[in-house]
Amino acid sequence: MSKWLEGEVVGQKQWTQRLFSVLIDAPVEAWKAGQFGRIGLHIDGADVMRPYSFVNAPQERPLEFYYITVEGGPLTARLPHMKVGEKILVAPKASGFLVLAEVPAAENLWLLSTGTALGPFLAICKTEEAWGRFKNIVLVHAVRHAEELSYQDQVKAIAAQRGNAFAFVPFVSREDTGYAIKGRVPAAIEQGMLQSRTGVELSPEKSQVMICGNPEMVKDTQATLEARGFRRHKRREPGHIHVETYW
Ligand SMILES: Cc1cc2nc3c(=O)[nH]c(=O)nc-3n(C[C@H](O)[C@H](O)[C@H](O)COP(=O)(O)OP(=O)(O)OC[C@H]3O[C@@H](n4cnc5c(N)ncnc54)[C@H](O)[C@@H]3O)c2cc1C
Ligand SMILES: NC(=O)c1ccc[n+]([C@@H]2O[C@H](COP(=O)([O-])OP(=O)(O)OC[C@H]3O[C@@H](n4cnc5c(N)ncnc54)[C@H](OP(=O)(O)O)[C@@H]3O)[C@@H](O)[C@H]2O)c1
Repeated sequence: MSKWLEGEVVGQKQWTQRLFSVLIDAPVEAWKAGQFGRIGLHIDGADVMRPYSFVNAPQERPLEFYYITVEGGPLTARLPHMKVGEKILVAPKASGFLVLAEVPAAENLWLLSTGTALGPFLAICKTEEAWGRFKNIVLVHAVRHAEELSYQDQVKAIAAQRGNAFAFVPFVSREDTGYAIKGRVPAAIEQGMLQSRTGVELSPEKSQVMICGNPEMVKDTQATLEARGFRRHKRREPGHIHVETYW
């Protein structure tokens, strides 16, 4: 018997030339917002399975995964061409520690993402648990070009529902927009721009920080925060920084 479930593609959204979201119907086991599942296809005699963060909150269906096509990548070369009704392999169980259950209590929760790593943070923002635990939640989405600021409808819905408890900060690094910060997250932290823009304190005393996406961004942001007294969280040695890298 196969280790994988047979899922069905029930939708596909195209955001830009390289950014897509695939919607899948599959009876996966319960998981926590922030975790990732595995999806894949049987290619040249092998099951090619890759991890993708759930964008949908655990109570929402269908399953939704936000992805970028990667040069020479076997799965992302095929995924955008999949049509509604086609079968796709899905792992029954989710994994990952980028979840609120791993985050100690604090006043402020900072969610720092690049590119498709917006996904797990949208899932977290769509849970009641997040709003019960933190006074302020700041969602940062850093992209190269303004057209890559996907999921604005969901960001606006969270803002409308949560009012002053929520702030969204877009970064667009390679284009002038007039509304997004032009540049990179670590530099903005060094310059105090995140705090001044949101009015939310970014300090180890008041904040927990989850970082996800580009490994270089994760590394540089962690180093910038460590220089300000933040520490990587470990279960046996509680800290403030929680990370997941996508490649
Ligand atoms: C925990 C985890 C969660 C992930 N969640 C997501 C997600 O939600 N959305 C998403 O788009 N991707 C996500 N990824 C990456 C994803 O699993 C695949 O690696 C990616 O989609 C490429 O698959 P592929 O088969 O086309 O190429 P692969 O054979 O997987 O990769 C080909 C090459 O591209 C590099 N690579 C992989 N992903 C990227 C990327 N995003 N940008 C640049 N280089 C990359 C790999 O290091 C490899 O060298 C996640 C990865 C991990 C480890
Ligand atoms: N988006 C595209 O059109 C495109 C095109 C070709 C290839 N790709 C490949 O696809 C992958 C994912 O692309 P992506 O566009 O989602 O994301 P990305 O390249 O990870 O860029 C997303 C954001 O992260 C910033 N960033 C990169 N390195 C950083 C660091 N060390 N510290 C802080 N911020 C950093 C980028 O700023 P900077 O702009 O300053 O780097 C950008 O604002 C990348 O590996 C890329 O090579 C993407």
